[in-house]
Amino acid sequence: MDVSAQPELVSEVRPPEAPNPEVDLLVINAGELVTMAGGPRKGARLRDVGAVPNGALAAHQGMIVDVGTTEELLARVQTGPSTRIIDARGRAVIPGFVDPHTHLCFAGDRADEFAMRLQGATYAEIARAGGGIQATVRATREAACSDLVELGLKRLDLLALAGTTTVEIKSGYGLTAVDEVKQLTAIREMAARHHLDIVPTFMGAHEFPPEYRQDREAYVDLICEEMLPLAAPTPEQADAGLISLLERAVGHMLPHERPLAIFCDVFAEAGVFTAEQSRRILQAAKRVGLRPKVHADELSDLGGASLAAEVGAISADHLLFASERGLAAMAKAGTVAVCLPGTAFSLMDVPYANARRMIELGCTVALGSDFNPGSCPAYAMPFIITLACMHMRMDPSEALAAATINAAAAIGLEGRVGSLEIGKQADFVILDVPGHQHIPYRMGQGVVACVIKRGRLLVEEGRLLRR
Ligand code: NIG
Ligand code: FE
Repeated sequence: MDVSAQPELVSEVRPPEAPNPEVDLLVINAGELVTMAGGPRKGARLRDVGAVPNGALAAHQGMIVDVGTTEELLARVQTGPSTRIIDARGRAVIPGFVDPHTHLCFAGDRADEFAMRLQGATYAEIARAGGGIQATVRATREAACSDLVELGLKRLDLLALAGTTTVEIKSGYGLTAVDEVKQLTAIREMAARHHLDIVPTFMGAHEFPPEYRQDREAYVDLICEEMLPLAAPTPEQADAGLISLLERAVGHMLPHERPLAIFCDVFAEAGVFTAEQSRRILQAAKRVGLRPKVHADELSDLGGASLAAEVGAISADHLLFASERGLAAMAKAGTVAVCLPGTAFSLMDVPYANARRMIELGCTVALGSDFNPGSCPAYAMPFIITLACMHMRMDPSEALAAATINAAAAIGLEGRVGSLEIGKQADFVILDVPGHQHIPYRMGQGVVACVIKRGRLLVEEGRLLRR
């Protein structure tokens, strides 16, 4: 089978009439349809991708209405003149990637720091000298909200081309109430203007801004007293509960009706936010309706994993230096372990997170990019999957589950995205290869052919049709 041949997307296949309501989208002849059915996975189940050979999928109005073999669906699904039929011609179909951790709303770049790191300077040394996050804070404060939106939309296009269909984006390059709200507003505007689903996270506790370096407690006060209430969901949304907030954040609401943030993240790290300061911020976040997330044990073991479990964080991310005790506490609390191997790759000379141990301990392991201008300029999830396999010894099936259904769990969206099941959004990728194990085998390159978001074709044979 020549999977690299450019197939006709809309074929002439016309299945027999069936007494079912007509569907508007039908995908047939998937060499392998990876469903990820059955919810987030841990332990030995992480390898089970729920593959259907010669698979097919039907969707209507953006939602999946049937999944099975091509034969089954041709027999039971009704098509009509308005049905788009996609013949996958033996190529693999997988759920769209969910990227549960990015900092993609920023201005400027840090290519100079990259060169410095190649000369031996460490990330922490550059940060202490006023570079690092501070450098991006300066550039982002100077940028207009509309500039941030334009930059962000272009980056979202790149993510879509790489097969990402849902993405979390953090603030944290403003570090004043006004600049943090500017970033969150830019993220909200991107969500209104791009088909990708965007989940916003408030991260005013990303770093101490220069004006508060001598009085760090005052900055923690500012976050708790001023920024969190601004970032929090509005009162009527808070009443509707977290589930409906998530639906609003990713749904079809008008921009001004979307909450500014769903989660609150903290960089708990030596020299940045102490465990005590992080705890205070995350507890205040919970009081205003924001669910905690933690940048935990990225550069040292600060007890971030245990803290995340203790405060009921939905996820703890990075975990390069997480203790055994911390990981066990996360497994017990159900805190998702988000591994970000692109960051270890980019930082060099740091260990990769111990994903194998996390899996053994029963953690729900997810993968994300950590896309940001400093510690990880990589955004493509196929590349992240490659790194996870080659450097964290994840199996290709485990890595794909971690980058789809488990990643959805890291942002509370496992009921809506991350798998191909009836009732979920029709968010999927047609790969230019016959099976999902080719993603890391091809080193993540050139594997994404078509991307469908809520039943709409965003990317056709590597070309972006719409954003
Ligand atoms: O996840 N650790 C803090 N935040 C990012 C880096 C952001 C930056 O360097 O601009 C991270 O690695
Ligand atoms: Fe990060």
